[in-house]
Amino acid sequence: MHFVQTFKSVASLVAGLALVSPTLAVPVETTQELSQRASSGAKRILLWPWINTNEVENNIAPALKATASTLADSGHFKLVANWETWHPDEVPKSLAFSPQLATRDHFSGERWNQLMDVLSWQKDAIVQSLNEPDLAGVSAADAANLWSQLVNLRKSHGVKLVTPACTSNPASKDWLSDFMGRVGGDSKPDYLGVHFYTTSTNSADQEIEYAKNYITEQYNAYKIPVFISEISSTSRDPAAAKKFIEDMSNWMDQQDFVFGYGFTGWSRKPADEFSSPAAQLLNESGGLTDLGKWLAGV
Ligand SMILES: *[C@@H]1O[C@H](CO)[C@@H](O)[C@H](O)[C@H]1NC(C)=O
Repeated sequence: MHFVQTFKSVASLVAGLALVSPTLAVPVETTQELSQRASSGAKRILLWPWINTNEVENNIAPALKATASTLADSGHFKLVANWETWHPDEVPKSLAFSPQLATRDHFSGERWNQLMDVLSWQKDAIVQSLNEPDLAGVSAADAANLWSQLVNLRKSHGVKLVTPACTSNPASKDWLSDFMGRVGGDSKPDYLGVHFYTTSTNSADQEIEYAKNYITEQYNAYKIPVFISEISSTSRDPAAAKKFIEDMSNWMDQQDFVFGYGFTGWSRKPADEFSSPAAQLLNESGGLTDLGKWLAGV
């Protein structure tokens, strides 16, 4: 998936105001209750792409701001991530932020400084590293060198570290095994980054089986809890996309070795040709689709 961009947030640091709907029928939970519930069970990661922040800041889709608050307050997410080292201002900070050093560029200069800023206020941050290095042409040796910079950060800041997240292409297994052979001992990752996308022409049942097997194999290879930083259906059939997302969510919720998982699709338009309109979690105005509501439990 290709959300890695050069967009830089103009940090306006406006505190997100929680929107309280007058028609809210359920009892209102306190922030503390919500965060306790999130830490006790919620495994969902809100993949909130940089383009949403851009569209809020430029007033292109103001509805995204209310949607961000609804999602952060839902208690169904444990983390928000945006393939970036800077925090999206429109997402309330009650939802923990997981910064990502998605490309080599993130390991120095402004992106690195933005990470340092985040670590000054985000306690116990879970830091993600390279995005699909197997596709981006970064060697396992180069990735391991960059990783040592993160290991130093773990020592100095007490963060937790997620491995580079490869594609689910068969060739990525060799890349990952090469990388993992270089990061033992003190350098051992806390979480294994995993991506999974379906083949659009297969049935939902087939892809659900592939996905379960793939994720389980990844865990069994290294015995490190998996952090599924991108997953979705690419089927154009709405029923198949819905079945994949719902069944996989229920299954991942039940696996102890799955630390967290993020479905893609939290954008007004599909990210690219590969992404399916049927798996979108936001509609064109920035409101939640039925699937988005289901994932947020709202
Ligand atoms: C988008 O979703 C919101 C909330 O679910 C809804 O109120 C709105 O009508 C939808 N807009 C479109 C264009 O579908």
